Amino acid sequence: MDFEVVRAGPKQWRETACDALLIVVDEHADGEVLGKELGAIWKQALDDGDLALEAGRTLYLHRPAGVKAARVVFAAAASATPKAFRAAVAAGLAAIKGGGTGELLVGSLLKGALGVGHAQALVAAVAEAVYVYRHTKPSAKSAPKLKRVALAGDAAEVEALRAGLARGEALAAGVGLARELVNRPGNHCTPSDLAAEARRLARSHGLQVEVLGRKEIEKLGMGCFLAVTQASHQPPKFIVLEYRGARKSQPPVVLVGKGITFDTGGVSLKPAPDMDEMKTDMGGAASVLGTLRAVAAAKPAINVIGLIPTCENMPGGAAVKPGDVVTSLSGQTVEILNTDAEGRLILCDALTYAERFEPALVIDIATLTGACVVALGHHRSGLFCADDTVAAALLAAGETALDPCWRMPLDVEYDEALKSNFADMANVGPRAGGAITAAMFLKRYTAKYPWAHLDIAGVAFKGGANKGATGRPVPLLTQFLLDRAG
Ligand code: BES
Ligand code: MN
Ligand code: ZN
Repeated sequence: MDFEVVRAGPKQWRETACDALLIVVDEHADGEVLGKELGAIWKQALDDGDLALEAGRTLYLHRPAGVKAARVVFAAAASATPKAFRAAVAAGLAAIKGGGTGELLVGSLLKGALGVGHAQALVAAVAEAVYVYRHTKPSAKSAPKLKRVALAGDAAEVEALRAGLARGEALAAGVGLARELVNRPGNHCTPSDLAAEARRLARSHGLQVEVLGRKEIEKLGMGCFLAVTQASHQPPKFIVLEYRGARKSQPPVVLVGKGITFDTGGVSLKPAPDMDEMKTDMGGAASVLGTLRAVAAAKPAINVIGLIPTCENMPGGAAVKPGDVVTSLSGQTVEILNTDAEGRLILCDALTYAERFEPALVIDIATLTGACVVALGHHRSGLFCADDTVAAALLAAGETALDPCWRMPLDVEYDEALKSNFADMANVGPRAGGAITAAMFLKRYTAKYPWAHLDIAGVAFKGGANKGATGRPVPLLTQFLLDRAG
Protein backbone atom coordinates (compact mmCIF):
# COMPACT_ATOMS: atom_id res chain seq x y z
CA MET A 1 0.00 0.00 0.00
CA ASP A 2 1.18 3.48 -0.82
CA PHE A 3 0.91 6.43 1.49
CA GLU A 4 1.49 9.94 0.27
CA VAL A 5 0.96 13.55 1.20
CA VAL A 6 -0.91 15.84 -1.16
CA ARG A 7 -0.96 19.60 -0.91
CA ALA A 8 -4.67 20.22 -1.03
CA GLY A 9 -7.40 22.21 0.70
CA PRO A 10 -11.15 21.50 0.79
CA LYS A 11 -11.63 22.77 -2.77
CA GLN A 12 -9.09 20.28 -4.13
CA TRP A 13 -10.56 17.48 -2.01
CA ARG A 14 -13.86 17.95 -3.81
CA GLU A 15 -12.16 17.97 -7.18
CA THR A 16 -10.07 14.84 -6.61
CA ALA A 17 -11.38 11.73 -8.29
CA CYS A 18 -10.95 8.91 -5.76
CA ASP A 19 -12.95 6.04 -4.31
CA ALA A 20 -13.46 7.66 -0.94
CA LEU A 21 -12.91 10.98 0.75
CA LEU A 22 -12.60 10.73 4.54
CA ILE A 23 -12.99 14.04 6.33
CA VAL A 24 -12.09 14.22 10.00
CA VAL A 25 -14.13 16.83 11.85
CA ASP A 26 -14.83 17.97 15.37
CA GLU A 27 -17.34 20.24 17.03
CA HIS A 28 -15.48 23.33 15.82
CA ALA A 29 -15.50 22.27 12.16
CA ASP A 30 -16.68 24.88 9.69
CA GLY A 31 -18.92 23.33 7.00
CA GLU A 32 -18.72 26.49 4.85
CA VAL A 33 -15.33 25.45 3.45
CA LEU A 34 -16.93 22.33 1.93
CA GLY A 35 -18.46 24.40 -0.87
CA LYS A 36 -22.05 24.97 -1.83
CA GLU A 37 -23.36 21.46 -2.38
CA LEU A 38 -21.42 19.42 0.18
CA GLY A 39 -21.74 22.32 2.62
CA ALA A 40 -25.52 22.16 2.25
CA ILE A 41 -25.52 18.39 2.90
CA TRP A 42 -23.35 18.95 5.97
CA LYS A 43 -25.71 21.57 7.35
CA GLN A 44 -28.78 19.45 6.61
CA ALA A 45 -27.24 16.38 8.25
CA LEU A 46 -26.46 18.41 11.37
CA ASP A 47 -29.96 19.84 11.47
CA ASP A 48 -31.52 16.42 10.92
CA GLY A 49 -29.44 14.97 13.71
CA ASP A 50 -27.76 12.49 11.35
CA LEU A 51 -24.31 13.86 12.00
CA ALA A 52 -23.37 14.22 15.63
CA LEU A 53 -20.00 15.85 16.19
CA GLU A 54 -19.05 13.43 18.92
CA ALA A 55 -16.05 11.11 19.01
CA GLY A 56 -16.65 7.86 17.16
CA ARG A 57 -19.64 9.08 15.13
CA THR A 58 -19.54 8.93 11.35
CA LEU A 59 -21.76 9.86 8.42
CA TYR A 60 -21.48 7.95 5.15
CA LEU A 61 -22.57 9.61 1.91
CA HIS A 62 -22.76 7.76 -1.38
CA ARG A 63 -21.94 9.84 -4.45
CA PRO A 64 -23.03 13.14 -2.94
CA ALA A 65 -23.43 16.12 -5.28
CA GLY A 66 -20.53 18.50 -5.78
CA VAL A 67 -17.79 15.95 -5.09
CA LYS A 68 -15.77 13.78 -7.48
CA ALA A 69 -15.15 11.07 -4.86
CA ALA A 70 -17.54 8.13 -5.04
CA ARG A 71 -17.96 8.11 -1.28
CA VAL A 72 -17.63 10.73 1.41
CA VAL A 73 -17.36 9.88 5.08
CA PHE A 74 -17.35 12.40 7.88
CA ALA A 75 -15.69 11.06 11.01
CA ALA A 76 -15.90 12.99 14.26
CA ALA A 77 -12.93 13.33 16.60
CA ALA A 78 -13.02 14.20 20.30
CA SER A 79 -10.24 16.74 19.82
CA ALA A 80 -7.38 17.63 17.49
CA THR A 81 -4.79 15.34 19.10
CA PRO A 82 -3.17 12.49 17.14
CA LYS A 83 -4.91 10.05 19.48
CA ALA A 84 -8.36 11.45 18.68
CA PHE A 85 -7.41 11.67 15.00
CA ARG A 86 -6.48 7.97 14.98
CA ALA A 87 -9.79 6.98 16.58
CA ALA A 88 -11.75 9.07 14.08
CA VAL A 89 -9.87 7.62 11.09
CA ALA A 90 -10.49 4.11 12.45
CA ALA A 91 -14.23 4.83 12.74
CA GLY A 92 -14.27 6.35 9.25
CA LEU A 93 -12.51 3.32 7.77
CA ALA A 94 -15.02 1.03 9.47
CA ALA A 95 -17.83 3.00 7.82
CA ILE A 96 -16.42 2.33 4.33
CA LYS A 97 -15.32 -1.22 5.06
CA GLY A 98 -16.39 -3.58 2.31
CA GLY A 99 -16.76 -0.65 -0.09
CA GLY A 100 -14.66 -0.85 -3.24
CA THR A 101 -12.18 1.64 -1.94
CA GLY A 102 -8.82 1.43 -3.68
CA GLU A 103 -7.90 5.08 -3.40
CA LEU A 104 -8.59 7.04 -0.27
CA LEU A 105 -8.09 10.73 0.37
CA VAL A 106 -8.04 11.93 3.98
CA GLY A 107 -8.64 15.56 4.88
CA SER A 108 -8.95 17.30 8.22
CA LEU A 109 -11.22 20.13 9.35
CA LEU A 110 -9.77 20.04 12.85
CA LYS A 111 -8.62 23.29 14.42
CA GLY A 112 -4.86 23.57 14.29
CA ALA A 113 -2.24 22.07 12.02
CA LEU A 114 -1.68 18.40 11.33
CA GLY A 115 1.75 17.16 12.34
CA VAL A 116 4.03 14.13 12.43
CA GLY A 117 1.84 12.46 15.05
CA HIS A 118 -1.31 12.74 12.93
CA ALA A 119 0.39 11.20 9.89
CA GLN A 120 1.81 8.41 12.04
CA ALA A 121 -1.64 7.85 13.56
CA LEU A 122 -3.21 7.64 10.11
CA VAL A 123 -0.86 4.86 8.99
CA ALA A 124 -1.44 2.99 12.26
CA ALA A 125 -5.22 3.18 11.84
CA VAL A 126 -5.10 2.05 8.21
CA ALA A 127 -2.69 -0.82 8.92
CA GLU A 128 -4.86 -1.95 11.82
CA ALA A 129 -8.01 -1.83 9.67
CA VAL A 130 -6.64 -3.88 6.77
CA TYR A 131 -4.87 -6.58 8.80
CA VAL A 132 -6.40 -10.02 8.44
CA TYR A 133 -5.00 -13.13 10.13
CA ARG A 134 -4.73 -15.90 7.55
CA HIS A 135 -1.78 -18.09 8.56
CA THR A 136 -4.00 -20.93 9.78
CA LYS A 137 -7.24 -19.60 8.27
CA PRO A 138 -6.54 -19.03 4.59
CA SER A 139 -10.29 -18.86 3.99
CA ALA A 140 -10.51 -15.59 5.95
CA LYS A 141 -11.98 -12.83 3.82
CA SER A 142 -9.08 -10.90 2.37
CA ALA A 143 -8.40 -7.35 3.41
CA PRO A 144 -10.24 -4.43 1.78
CA LYS A 145 -8.36 -3.66 -1.42
CA LEU A 146 -6.99 -0.31 -0.30
CA LYS A 147 -4.09 0.60 -2.62
CA ARG A 148 -3.34 4.26 -2.07
CA VAL A 149 -3.92 6.53 0.88
CA ALA A 150 -3.32 10.24 0.44
CA LEU A 151 -3.25 12.64 3.36
CA ALA A 152 -4.14 16.22 2.49
CA GLY A 153 -2.21 19.04 4.09
CA ASP A 154 -1.33 22.65 3.43
CA ALA A 155 2.08 23.95 2.41
CA ALA A 156 3.21 24.44 5.98
CA GLU A 157 2.25 20.92 7.00
CA VAL A 158 3.55 18.88 4.08
CA GLU A 159 7.08 18.26 5.32
CA ALA A 160 6.04 17.05 8.77
CA LEU A 161 3.34 14.86 7.28
CA ARG A 162 5.81 13.19 4.91
CA ALA A 163 8.13 12.42 7.83
CA GLY A 164 5.17 11.13 9.83
CA LEU A 165 3.99 8.82 7.06
CA ALA A 166 7.49 7.37 6.62
CA ARG A 167 7.86 6.75 10.33
CA GLY A 168 4.32 5.40 10.46
CA GLU A 169 5.07 2.90 7.70
CA ALA A 170 8.22 1.65 9.44
CA LEU A 171 6.24 1.27 12.64
CA ALA A 172 3.30 -0.43 10.97
CA ALA A 173 5.61 -3.05 9.47
CA GLY A 174 7.03 -3.78 12.93
CA VAL A 175 3.62 -3.83 14.61
CA GLY A 176 2.30 -6.08 11.85
CA LEU A 177 5.10 -8.60 12.35
CA ALA A 178 4.63 -8.72 16.12
CA ARG A 179 0.88 -9.02 15.77
CA GLU A 180 1.09 -11.82 13.24
CA LEU A 181 3.56 -13.87 15.30
CA VAL A 182 1.56 -13.50 18.51
CA ASN A 183 -1.62 -14.58 16.72
CA ARG A 184 -0.03 -17.80 15.45
CA PRO A 185 -0.87 -20.83 17.59
CA GLY A 186 1.79 -22.66 19.55
CA ASN A 187 2.12 -25.44 17.01
CA HIS A 188 2.75 -22.92 14.24
CA CYS A 189 5.04 -20.69 16.25
CA THR A 190 7.57 -22.92 17.98
CA PRO A 191 10.99 -21.78 19.20
CA SER A 192 12.40 -23.09 15.89
CA ASP A 193 9.78 -21.10 13.98
CA LEU A 194 10.74 -17.94 15.88
CA ALA A 195 14.39 -18.59 15.06
CA ALA A 196 13.47 -18.99 11.39
CA GLU A 197 11.55 -15.68 11.55
CA ALA A 198 14.59 -14.00 13.07
CA ARG A 199 16.80 -15.34 10.29
CA ARG A 200 14.31 -14.19 7.65
CA LEU A 201 14.17 -10.74 9.22
CA ALA A 202 17.95 -10.52 9.35
CA ARG A 203 18.24 -11.47 5.70
CA SER A 204 15.57 -9.06 4.48
CA HIS A 205 16.65 -6.12 6.65
CA GLY A 206 20.41 -6.43 6.83
CA LEU A 207 20.69 -7.47 10.48
CA GLN A 208 23.21 -9.86 12.00
CA VAL A 209 21.73 -12.95 13.54
CA GLU A 210 22.97 -15.88 15.59
CA VAL A 211 20.86 -18.71 16.99
CA LEU A 212 22.16 -20.82 19.86
CA GLY A 213 20.76 -24.34 20.29
CA ARG A 214 20.47 -26.57 23.34
CA LYS A 215 24.12 -27.63 23.32
CA GLU A 216 25.36 -24.05 23.33
CA ILE A 217 22.83 -23.02 25.96
CA GLU A 218 24.06 -25.91 28.13
CA LYS A 219 27.67 -24.99 27.54
CA LEU A 220 27.02 -21.39 28.59
CA GLY A 221 25.39 -22.65 31.80
CA MET A 222 21.93 -21.13 31.50
CA GLY A 223 20.53 -23.40 34.22
CA CYS A 224 17.29 -21.46 34.75
CA PHE A 225 16.42 -21.35 31.04
CA LEU A 226 17.22 -25.08 30.74
CA ALA A 227 14.96 -25.92 33.70
CA VAL A 228 11.97 -24.37 31.94
CA THR A 229 12.54 -26.15 28.63
CA GLN A 230 13.44 -29.59 29.99
CA ALA A 231 10.05 -31.31 29.55
CA SER A 232 9.41 -30.00 26.05
CA HIS A 233 9.95 -31.93 22.85
CA GLN A 234 10.60 -28.65 21.05
CA PRO A 235 14.27 -27.67 21.18
CA PRO A 236 14.96 -24.32 22.91
CA LYS A 237 16.61 -21.48 21.00
CA PHE A 238 18.50 -18.41 22.08
CA ILE A 239 18.29 -15.77 19.37
CA VAL A 240 20.75 -12.87 19.05
CA LEU A 241 19.95 -10.10 16.53
CA GLU A 242 22.05 -7.01 15.93
CA TYR A 243 21.20 -3.72 14.28
CA ARG A 244 24.24 -1.48 13.88
CA GLY A 245 23.29 2.10 13.01
CA ALA A 246 26.10 3.86 14.89
CA ARG A 247 29.83 3.35 15.16
CA LYS A 248 30.83 0.03 16.67
CA SER A 249 32.19 1.61 19.86
CA GLN A 250 28.84 3.14 20.82
CA PRO A 251 27.28 1.02 23.60
CA PRO A 252 24.05 -0.59 22.38
CA VAL A 253 20.55 -0.71 23.77
CA VAL A 254 19.74 -4.37 24.37
CA LEU A 255 16.14 -5.56 24.10
CA VAL A 256 15.35 -8.87 25.79
CA GLY A 257 12.04 -10.52 24.88
CA LYS A 258 10.30 -13.38 26.69
CA GLY A 259 9.72 -16.10 24.12
CA ILE A 260 7.58 -18.78 25.77
CA THR A 261 5.79 -20.15 22.71
CA PHE A 262 3.32 -21.91 24.99
CA ASP A 263 2.91 -21.65 28.74
CA THR A 264 1.00 -24.56 30.27
CA GLY A 265 2.35 -23.60 33.68
CA GLY A 266 4.38 -26.81 33.77
CA VAL A 267 3.82 -29.10 36.78
CA SER A 268 2.18 -26.08 38.49
CA LEU A 269 -0.39 -26.48 35.72
CA LYS A 270 -2.64 -23.62 34.70
CA PRO A 271 -6.45 -24.05 34.76
CA ALA A 272 -8.02 -25.06 31.43
CA PRO A 273 -10.25 -22.03 30.73
CA ASP A 274 -8.46 -19.56 28.45
CA MET A 275 -5.25 -21.56 28.53
CA ASP A 276 -5.15 -21.18 24.73
CA GLU A 277 -4.26 -17.53 25.31
CA MET A 278 -0.87 -18.70 26.58
CA LYS A 279 0.18 -19.06 22.95
CA THR A 280 0.75 -15.29 23.28
CA ASP A 281 3.43 -15.78 25.93
CA MET A 282 6.05 -14.96 23.31
CA GLY A 283 4.65 -11.42 22.97
CA GLY A 284 7.87 -9.93 24.34
CA ALA A 285 9.93 -11.85 21.79
CA ALA A 286 7.57 -10.76 19.01
CA SER A 287 7.91 -7.14 20.08
CA VAL A 288 11.70 -7.40 19.91
CA LEU A 289 11.48 -8.78 16.36
CA GLY A 290 8.90 -6.15 15.40
CA THR A 291 10.91 -3.30 16.89
CA LEU A 292 14.07 -4.42 15.11
CA ARG A 293 12.12 -4.53 11.89
CA ALA A 294 10.81 -1.00 12.42
CA VAL A 295 14.26 0.24 13.44
CA ALA A 296 15.91 -1.40 10.43
CA ALA A 297 13.42 0.42 8.20
CA ALA A 298 13.83 3.81 9.91
CA LYS A 299 17.65 3.47 10.16
CA PRO A 300 18.39 5.60 13.24
CA ALA A 301 22.02 6.20 14.30
CA ILE A 302 21.98 3.84 17.24
CA ASN A 303 23.06 0.26 17.98
CA VAL A 304 20.36 -2.17 19.06
CA ILE A 305 20.72 -5.81 20.08
CA GLY A 306 17.78 -8.16 20.40
CA LEU A 307 18.00 -11.20 22.69
CA ILE A 308 15.28 -13.84 22.68
CA PRO A 309 15.32 -16.88 24.94
CA THR A 310 12.55 -19.08 23.55
CA CYS A 311 11.08 -22.43 24.61
CA GLU A 312 7.86 -24.11 25.74
CA ASN A 313 6.81 -24.52 29.37
CA MET A 314 5.46 -28.08 29.57
CA PRO A 315 4.60 -30.61 32.31
CA GLY A 316 5.82 -34.21 31.98
CA GLY A 317 8.11 -36.85 33.38
CA ALA A 318 11.18 -34.80 32.65
CA ALA A 319 9.73 -31.54 33.95
CA VAL A 320 11.27 -29.39 36.63
CA LYS A 321 9.43 -29.85 39.95
CA PRO A 322 8.38 -27.36 42.62
CA GLY A 323 11.22 -27.15 45.08
CA ASP A 324 13.94 -27.96 42.54
CA VAL A 325 16.97 -25.72 42.83
CA VAL A 326 18.89 -24.66 39.72
CA THR A 327 21.92 -22.49 39.05
CA SER A 328 21.53 -19.47 36.79
CA LEU A 329 24.13 -18.23 34.32
CA SER A 330 24.98 -15.52 36.88
CA GLY A 331 25.93 -18.22 39.41
CA GLN A 332 23.04 -17.35 41.74
CA THR A 333 20.87 -20.33 42.69
CA VAL A 334 17.08 -20.33 42.38
CA GLU A 335 14.47 -22.42 44.18
CA ILE A 336 11.64 -22.98 41.70
CA LEU A 337 8.62 -22.92 44.00
CA ASN A 338 6.17 -22.45 41.14
CA THR A 339 6.95 -23.73 37.66
CA ASP A 340 4.40 -21.27 36.25
CA ALA A 341 6.71 -18.38 37.12
CA GLU A 342 8.86 -19.44 34.17
CA GLY A 343 9.23 -16.14 32.32
CA ARG A 344 11.62 -14.70 34.88
CA LEU A 345 13.68 -17.91 34.69
CA ILE A 346 14.38 -17.65 30.98
CA LEU A 347 14.82 -13.87 31.23
CA CYS A 348 17.35 -13.89 34.09
CA ASP A 349 19.83 -15.92 32.05
CA ALA A 350 19.30 -13.67 29.03
CA LEU A 351 19.86 -10.61 31.24
CA THR A 352 23.18 -12.05 32.36
CA TYR A 353 24.09 -12.85 28.76
CA ALA A 354 23.39 -9.16 27.93
CA GLU A 355 26.42 -8.11 30.03
CA ARG A 356 28.80 -9.13 27.25
CA PHE A 357 27.55 -6.25 25.08
CA GLU A 358 28.49 -3.65 27.73
CA PRO A 359 25.11 -2.07 27.09
CA ALA A 360 24.09 1.55 27.60
CA LEU A 361 20.69 0.20 28.62
CA VAL A 362 18.84 -3.12 28.75
CA ILE A 363 15.05 -3.28 28.39
CA ASP A 364 13.27 -6.58 28.88
CA ILE A 365 9.76 -7.04 27.56
CA ALA A 366 7.56 -9.83 28.86
CA THR A 367 4.01 -11.09 29.27
CA LEU A 368 5.21 -11.73 32.78
CA THR A 369 2.41 -11.64 35.34
CA GLY A 370 -1.35 -11.88 35.69
CA ALA A 371 -0.85 -9.52 38.62
CA CYS A 372 0.14 -6.75 36.21
CA VAL A 373 -3.16 -7.24 34.39
CA VAL A 374 -4.96 -6.91 37.73
CA ALA A 375 -3.03 -3.72 38.51
CA LEU A 376 -3.22 -1.90 35.16
CA GLY A 377 -5.83 -3.68 33.04
CA HIS A 378 -5.39 -3.75 29.29
CA HIS A 379 -4.51 -0.14 28.53
CA ARG A 380 -1.06 0.53 29.98
CA SER A 381 2.00 -1.69 30.21
CA GLY A 382 3.77 -1.86 33.56
CA LEU A 383 7.10 -0.02 33.55
CA PHE A 384 9.74 -0.84 36.15
CA CYS A 385 12.89 1.26 36.05
CA ALA A 386 15.13 2.61 38.78
CA ASP A 387 16.61 5.34 36.57
CA ASP A 388 14.35 8.41 36.54
CA THR A 389 15.71 9.76 33.26
CA VAL A 390 15.23 6.51 31.38
CA ALA A 391 11.80 6.02 32.96
CA ALA A 392 10.72 9.51 31.89
CA ALA A 393 11.90 8.85 28.33
CA LEU A 394 10.00 5.56 28.14
CA LEU A 395 6.85 7.09 29.60
CA ALA A 396 7.06 9.96 27.10
CA ALA A 397 7.67 7.61 24.16
CA GLY A 398 4.59 5.64 25.17
CA GLU A 399 2.43 8.77 25.17
CA THR A 400 3.77 9.97 21.81
CA ALA A 401 3.39 6.57 20.16
CA LEU A 402 -0.11 6.08 21.64
CA ASP A 403 1.22 2.95 23.33
CA PRO A 404 1.28 4.06 26.96
CA CYS A 405 2.89 2.56 30.03
CA TRP A 406 2.76 3.38 33.75
CA ARG A 407 5.58 3.39 36.26
CA MET A 408 5.56 0.84 39.06
CA PRO A 409 7.77 0.69 42.17
CA LEU A 410 11.00 -1.22 42.83
CA ASP A 411 11.51 -0.56 46.55
CA VAL A 412 13.93 -2.93 48.29
CA GLU A 413 11.14 -3.82 50.71
CA TYR A 414 9.52 -5.91 47.96
CA ASP A 415 12.67 -8.00 47.62
CA GLU A 416 12.03 -9.71 50.99
CA ALA A 417 9.35 -11.83 49.33
CA LEU A 418 11.96 -13.77 47.34
CA LYS A 419 13.87 -15.15 50.35
CA SER A 420 14.55 -18.88 50.25
CA ASN A 421 16.09 -21.23 52.83
CA PHE A 422 17.43 -23.47 50.09
CA ALA A 423 18.76 -21.12 47.41
CA ASP A 424 19.87 -17.52 46.84
CA MET A 425 16.28 -16.72 45.96
CA ALA A 426 12.87 -18.25 45.27
CA ASN A 427 11.23 -17.66 41.91
CA VAL A 428 7.96 -16.44 43.46
CA GLY A 429 6.71 -14.53 46.47
CA PRO A 430 3.17 -14.39 47.87
CA ARG A 431 0.30 -13.26 45.61
CA ALA A 432 0.31 -9.67 46.82
CA GLY A 433 2.34 -7.37 44.59
CA GLY A 434 3.05 -10.18 42.13
CA ALA A 435 4.07 -7.91 39.25
CA ILE A 436 6.54 -6.13 41.50
CA THR A 437 8.17 -9.21 43.01
CA ALA A 438 8.60 -10.56 39.47
CA ALA A 439 10.44 -7.33 38.61
CA MET A 440 12.50 -7.58 41.81
CA PHE A 441 13.56 -11.06 40.76
CA LEU A 442 14.81 -9.76 37.39
CA LYS A 443 16.49 -6.79 39.07
CA ARG A 444 18.86 -9.19 40.83
CA TYR A 445 20.41 -9.96 37.44
CA THR A 446 20.87 -6.40 36.24
CA ALA A 447 23.51 -4.91 38.54
CA LYS A 448 25.96 -4.27 35.71
CA TYR A 449 23.91 -1.85 33.56
CA PRO A 450 20.93 0.54 33.57
CA TRP A 451 17.77 -1.50 33.16
CA ALA A 452 14.05 -1.21 32.49
CA HIS A 453 11.36 -3.87 32.49
CA LEU A 454 8.02 -3.76 30.66
CA ASP A 455 5.32 -6.15 31.83
CA ILE A 456 3.01 -6.39 28.80
CA ALA A 457 0.73 -9.21 30.01
CA GLY A 458 -2.32 -6.94 29.72
CA VAL A 459 -1.59 -5.20 26.43
CA ALA A 460 -0.04 -7.70 23.99
CA PHE A 461 -3.33 -9.43 23.35
CA LYS A 462 -7.04 -8.57 23.38
CA GLY A 463 -9.73 -11.02 24.46
CA GLY A 464 -13.41 -10.91 23.56
CA ALA A 465 -15.03 -10.74 20.12
CA ASN A 466 -11.98 -9.11 18.50
CA LYS A 467 -9.69 -11.63 20.15
CA GLY A 468 -6.16 -11.19 18.86
CA ALA A 469 -2.76 -9.61 19.18
CA THR A 470 -2.11 -5.87 19.26
CA GLY A 471 1.53 -5.60 18.16
CA ARG A 472 2.27 -3.66 21.36
CA PRO A 473 4.69 -2.42 22.65
CA VAL A 474 6.48 -2.08 19.30
CA PRO A 475 5.33 1.57 18.94
CA LEU A 476 6.61 2.51 22.40
CA LEU A 477 9.98 0.80 21.93
CA THR A 478 10.54 2.11 18.42
CA GLN A 479 9.61 5.66 19.42
CA PHE A 480 11.97 5.44 22.38
CA LEU A 481 14.88 4.25 20.22
CA LEU A 482 14.27 6.84 17.49
CA ASP A 483 14.04 9.62 20.09
CA ARG A 484 17.23 8.38 21.71
CA ALA A 485 19.07 8.38 18.37
CA GLY A 486 18.01 12.03 18.02
N1 BES B 1 2.59 -15.98 31.16
C1 BES B 1 2.12 -15.85 32.48
C2 BES B 1 1.57 -14.47 32.80
C3 BES B 1 0.32 -14.04 32.05
C4 BES B 1 -0.91 -14.19 32.65
C5 BES B 1 0.40 -13.44 30.82
C6 BES B 1 -2.03 -13.75 32.00
C7 BES B 1 -0.73 -13.02 30.17
C8 BES B 1 -1.96 -13.17 30.76
C9 BES B 1 3.26 -16.13 33.46
O1 BES B 1 4.20 -17.05 33.04
C10 BES B 1 2.65 -16.67 34.71
O2 BES B 1 2.10 -17.73 34.65
N2 BES B 1 2.74 -15.92 35.79
C11 BES B 1 2.19 -16.34 37.03
C12 BES B 1 3.17 -16.01 38.12
C13 BES B 1 2.82 -16.60 39.44
C14 BES B 1 2.95 -18.10 39.40
C15 BES B 1 3.74 -16.01 40.48
C16 BES B 1 0.88 -15.58 37.24
O3 BES B 1 0.80 -14.42 36.85
O4 BES B 1 -0.06 -16.19 37.71
MN1 MN C 1 3.67 -19.04 33.54
ZN1 ZN D 1 4.44 -17.26 31.04
